[in-house]
Amino acid sequence: MPKGRTTFSKFIIEEELRASQPDPHLTALLNDIQTACKFIALAVARGGLNASEAVATTTNVQGEEQKALDVIANDIMLAQCEQGGTLCGMASEEMDEPYPIQAEHRRGRYLLAFDPLDGSSNLDVNVTVGTIFSILRAPDGVCDPTVEHFLQPGTQQIAAGFALYGPCSMIVITLGSGVHGFTLDREIGAYTLTHPSMRIPEHTREFAINASNERFWEPPVRHYVAECIQGREGVRGEDFNMRWVASMVAEVFRILVRGGLFMYPRDTKDLGKPGRLRLLYEANPMSMIVEQAGGAATTGRERLLDIAPAALHQRVPVILGSKSEVERLIGYHQAYDRGEDLAFDAPLFNARTMFR
Ligand code: AHG
Ligand code: MN
Ligand code: MN
Repeated sequence: MPKGRTTFSKFIIEEELRASQPDPHLTALLNDIQTACKFIALAVARGGLNASEAVATTTNVQGEEQKALDVIANDIMLAQCEQGGTLCGMASEEMDEPYPIQAEHRRGRYLLAFDPLDGSSNLDVNVTVGTIFSILRAPDGVCDPTVEHFLQPGTQQIAAGFALYGPCSMIVITLGSGVHGFTLDREIGAYTLTHPSMRIPEHTREFAINASNERFWEPPVRHYVAECIQGREGVRGEDFNMRWVASMVAEVFRILVRGGLFMYPRDTKDLGKPGRLRLLYEANPMSMIVEQAGGAATTGRERLLDIAPAALHQRVPVILGSKSEVERLIGYHQAYDRGEDLAFDAPLFNARTMFR
């Protein structure tokens, strides 16, 4: 290993030294998160060696299958992050209500919202999963936070990031000035800066969507995907590739490296759910990262980071990635909402898609 490389620990200390209002509590919290991610990386890497952990066990608050590793990862984050005196509460996909810091620990000024294992349906097939996190400041005077204190728009995030447990273990982070990627060097036990100042490439020919939901999509999304599939012969004049990992962490990392578009759009599959992904611990942190890397993130009709959350586990439509592609989709939504783009709403369209 070359000498003098920047570890995650060194990076966050340097960021603190550079900050106009340095806060060692934020540095300490980020340090606890990286330690938690190392423990989760280890647990995930054991795979089938701990056979029972990949098996579905329970159902979480959102009625979804909860694997033992979802719960283990959740417990690791709670245990590692509550002792530092930096947090006054945590919220997670796997917990119905916010978790109060136990009485024996000091309380700090930050709130942590996280998805302990994103993409956990991929655990039993050995495909990349990850942890997503969002750091907010607790409102002044609050040391015993309730749900309402977590309901802050994504623009209020102090920092956001995600860990990847794939062929390499990585952490990608933003503190509001760029996006930086670190790869776990297992020989020295340190996340090491390998992807400084990541920028989403603008020219892209890849898109990611779960095409099995096509019959439930809104016309603007059908319009976009149909044009991609028409490739060189269609209005885009170029061939596209489609990708679907079913782990948002892996899709967002690919977009940071190669560009492209990721969509889990509004659909009519379950009218009680306006989207699949959760705002506070999936859409918001990923949107901050994508915007900080020069991309864009929207519901199709609203910038994701501007949404005023109404519930802890609120779901939202998500469209994010290379800016020009996101803007194209926003344009299709606007045209449709103005009644100007009805072609893709017509029954005839269904006969023209490649999926039938
Ligand atoms: P989680 O494992 O935390 O529930 O999140 C999975 C999410 C996201 O990572 C992925 O993009 C999507 O759900 C996969 O959805 P499909 O099952 O429809 O492919
Ligand atoms: Mn998830
Ligand atoms: Mn999850």
